[in-house]
Amino acid sequence: MASITAGGMHMPKLGLGTWGMTGAACTDAVLRALGHGYRHIDTAQMYGNEDAVGAALARTDVARGDIHLTTKVWWENLQPDAMRRAMDDSLRKLRTPYVDLYLIHWPAPDMDLGATLGQMVRFQEQGLARHIGVSNFTVALLRQAIEEIGAPIVCNQVEYHVNLEQSRVLAYLRAKGLALTAYCPLGRGGLARDRVLARIAGRNGVTAAQVALAWLFGQDGVAAIPKAARDENQLANLAALDLRLDADDLAAIAALPKHERLVDPTGFAPAWDSPG
Ligand SMILES: NC(=O)c1ccc[n+]([C@@H]2O[C@H](COP(=O)([O-])OP(=O)(O)OC[C@H]3O[C@@H](n4cnc5c(N)ncnc54)[C@H](OP(=O)(O)O)[C@@H]3O)[C@@H](O)[C@H]2O)c1
Repeated sequence: MASITAGGMHMPKLGLGTWGMTGAACTDAVLRALGHGYRHIDTAQMYGNEDAVGAALARTDVARGDIHLTTKVWWENLQPDAMRRAMDDSLRKLRTPYVDLYLIHWPAPDMDLGATLGQMVRFQEQGLARHIGVSNFTVALLRQAIEEIGAPIVCNQVEYHVNLEQSRVLAYLRAKGLALTAYCPLGRGGLARDRVLARIAGRNGVTAAQVALAWLFGQDGVAAIPKAARDENQLANLAALDLRLDADDLAAIAALPKHERLVDPTGFAPAWDSPG
């Protein structure tokens, strides 16, 4: 599968998102995805499904070393002691001695970013996290982490899809050689019903959801983690890796509304970058 390289990390461009799936249904979805050829799984402490993902990792025939596994520490646990407990708990539930990528799930309004990133670096030095990164970081926060603190982060996972501009964050990450992982790449499923995408899909003999994903996969340094419980969706999303959009398709997508942020929690979301 196509992958991106950032700061020594190799990460498949397509991952399976798992938010909203728990228990046996989650284990089953992860197992089927691995069977179809997925090699990148995205979970988080907060999703309450690391145990279910761990059950799939324990049962699959795919070697652990062939799977890129991401998990995240919740923003209320960013003090070094709490992070240590969170990491221990995640690894126990995931039934693995390490994760490939450990992310700060959200910046906390009152965090000591230097201390938090210091603990992330220790996780890496201890071999518990192969690589470290952040999620929902703005350019200002990325600058602080990279240029002031000097943290060796390799990735920022943010909401990114055809209806949400992220050009400032993407330009900054590219300039630093880092990866952007797109969450909600299908707009929580709503983009499967978008009329402009459906027209492009018709021209290409694919679906609107596949067009939404191909638009992301076509961008350097960008991975996407659509959540798909259903087999047909898992397979369609894999096939989207082979879809190439032409200049007319890209122009039609460029003209779509670009300010539709779906995930913006009250109380801890950062002051987002202005678009463009
Ligand atoms: N870091 C963060 O703060 C953060 C925030 C949100 C999400 N995430 C991560 O990003 C992942 C993806 O985001 P998301 O789950 O919110 O939304 P999403 O991936 O944009 O959309 C998921 C929805 O799309 C449907 N779908 C999947 N493939 C499809 C296809 N080919 N055609 C039509 N429908 C399709 C799924 O249906 P079925 O499941 O029924 O197949 C599901 O209802 C999450 O699962 C999570 O791992 C991270």
